[in-house]
Amino acid sequence: MSFGLSRGRTPDVGEVGLDMRTLPSCHEGRIDPRNWFDDKSNPLEIEIGSGKGTFLLQQSELQPKTNFLGFEWAAEFYRYGADRLRRNGRKCVRMVYGDATEFMKYWCEDHVAQVIHLYFSDPWPKKRHNKRRVIQDDTLRNFHRVLKPGGELRIVTDHDDLWTWCDEHIDRHLDLFERKLFDIVGSASEGELTGTNFERKYRREGRPFHSVTLVKYKNAP
Ligand SMILES: C[S@@+](CC[C@H](N)C(=O)[O-])C[C@H]1O[C@@H](n2cnc3c(N)ncnc32)[C@H](O)[C@@H]1O
Repeated sequence: MSFGLSRGRTPDVGEVGLDMRTLPSCHEGRIDPRNWFDDKSNPLEIEIGSGKGTFLLQQSELQPKTNFLGFEWAAEFYRYGADRLRRNGRKCVRMVYGDATEFMKYWCEDHVAQVIHLYFSDPWPKKRHNKRRVIQDDTLRNFHRVLKPGGELRIVTDHDDLWTWCDEHIDRHLDLFERKLFDIVGSASEGELTGTNFERKYRREGRPFHSVTLVKYKNAP
């Protein structure tokens, strides 16, 4: 699949794009991603699996005083998304080419993010591939560590089996998070939950969606 950029050609995505393999100081302990932004004091929101960058583009327009950090491990989506954000002059958005769960587990500083967005995550439906799903017991613990107290993990999926999986994992971590109803994303259009590309595609197909917001307890460590 191509989106107007030929395979292997990396456009000049300027300061929007970061490659996880060459992150500055990645061998010197934990990284604080807030340092990648011009105004480090802005709240930080992280999106896992940004695809073509539609959520980042739409929501950063609505929240110009928030720093948005998107992760995308598929090279062509990363290139497309980062280039799109650069062309639209998004100064408070960065896209990382790499695995978000690896970053959160091994590299990311504690208590840095206000929100983690996980929208239409890959379902990996075959049993032997379930271990590749983003939501796992240890990723929930890592997201909890990366979030500030009172911070939120927001999840939407169309996939029934993935939803059951998430539900079961969440139930095992109710000591870490409180379940709340999903707050519709501010930049979503009428009738949408998030306004991402996959939501729009699946909505046209008439698929029902599952959603939840998990709130890290305010007094949590
Ligand atoms: C089904 S698409 C959804 C894209 C977008 N969130 C949307 O709703 O339109 C899932 C995306 O997440 C990316 N992805 C999945 N796991 C990831 C991970 N651990 N780190 C970074 N990207 C990931 C995939 O490459 C893919 O582009």
